[in-house]
Amino acid sequence: MKKNLAVIGVGAVGVEILRILKQRKFPVGSLRVFARSQRDIEIDGQKYKVEAVDKEGFDGIDIALFAGTEGEKGASVLYANKFIEKGAVVIDNGNDFRLRKDVPLVIPEVNRQAALSHKGLIANPNCTTIQAVTALGGIHKKFGLKSFMLTSFQATSGAGKKAAESLWNETKALVEKNKNRGFDALDKILDEKPECFDEQIAFNIIPQIGGFTEEGYTSEEWKVVYESRKILDNPDIKISATCIRVPVFTSHSESIYFTPSKKVSLVELEQALNSSEGVVYLKDSLCFPLQVEGKDPVFVCRLRKALDSENSFWLWCVSDNLRKGAALNAVQIAQCLL
Ligand SMILES: NC(=O)c1ccc[n+]([C@@H]2O[C@H](COP(=O)([O-])OP(=O)(O)OC[C@H]3O[C@@H](n4cnc5c(N)ncnc54)[C@H](OP(=O)(O)O)[C@@H]3O)[C@@H](O)[C@H]2O)c1
Repeated sequence: MKKNLAVIGVGAVGVEILRILKQRKFPVGSLRVFARSQRDIEIDGQKYKVEAVDKEGFDGIDIALFAGTEGEKGASVLYANKFIEKGAVVIDNGNDFRLRKDVPLVIPEVNRQAALSHKGLIANPNCTTIQAVTALGGIHKKFGLKSFMLTSFQATSGAGKKAAESLWNETKALVEKNKNRGFDALDKILDEKPECFDEQIAFNIIPQIGGFTEEGYTSEEWKVVYESRKILDNPDIKISATCIRVPVFTSHSESIYFTPSKKVSLVELEQALNSSEGVVYLKDSLCFPLQVEGKDPVFVCRLRKALDSENSFWLWCVSDNLRKGAALNAVQIAQCLL
């Protein structure tokens, strides 16, 4: 049962993959860790040798988990095929292959079976999509979904390790700048240009994730539309999204307005959420990014009837973007392959 693994990329997601493989006692035969440059790293007291990814030397790998950056200089565009040619199954965290017809896009709790139809490459959905579709997956299965609309409140680590660090550095710079001032005299604007996002993220909100494309929506928002339809195998669901970056380190929050296809009661929806795989439904309490960081499920609270329609509802959900939104989902896909 043991598998020889490769992890490519040791940024925010790659480190979490290594952590989860250990936590889940994944049956690892051998493990090779790659990034752009060679070094030694330590995660939770365990040392890992990171090799510089090269054009050769991908033999003997059963499963390659990619957590490199996207695009033509990204790890999966450059190297995924080389691993596949040598017999590995690639599980990719990035956006490059997600919508390709021959690439299954998988959330194990929702469409586990799709993973088994792979032709060497399986894609992990975007973090915002994973969270929303896991939260709605059990409801879709029982009652169908006519439509959903979401607004996301996305953590900085969703843009990588450097982005999370930039929130910390900006916050420290502002605290330093204002250390002798009272609240009324605060200067909340940084002296320097922001180091990662286009605008300052500390004490701020940025209503744009990804570049603007069709109809005034951003690439991140279109990912939610197309990826959700593909995973739910339902091209007719009406979906729209507004994706917002907030000054949180880890865990995305989403406010979702949804309309099931069949007429349902609140109690039936609660039952569906209580039996949804990967979901923790909180009937009488709230969920927060700080509390769910490091946890596996998608937490759902504030289920309520919409006031403008007979059969529409709201829910709030929170999940660790680095775990369920990326690394955990990838490792779960690898577990499906066992
Ligand atoms: N962060 C999230 O919440 C999240 C959620 C869902 C999906 N994703 C996706 O997951 C992937 C990784 O994201 P991240 O947040 O972990 O990014 P990150 O923190 O910026 O880390 C990227 C890692 O990839 C390595 N890398 C980049 N290009 C490479 C190449 N050509 N060859 C080998 N290694 C390369 C880097 O190597 P060096 O360290 O040597 O520079 C670095 O270790 C991205 O595709 C992202 O879109 C992220």
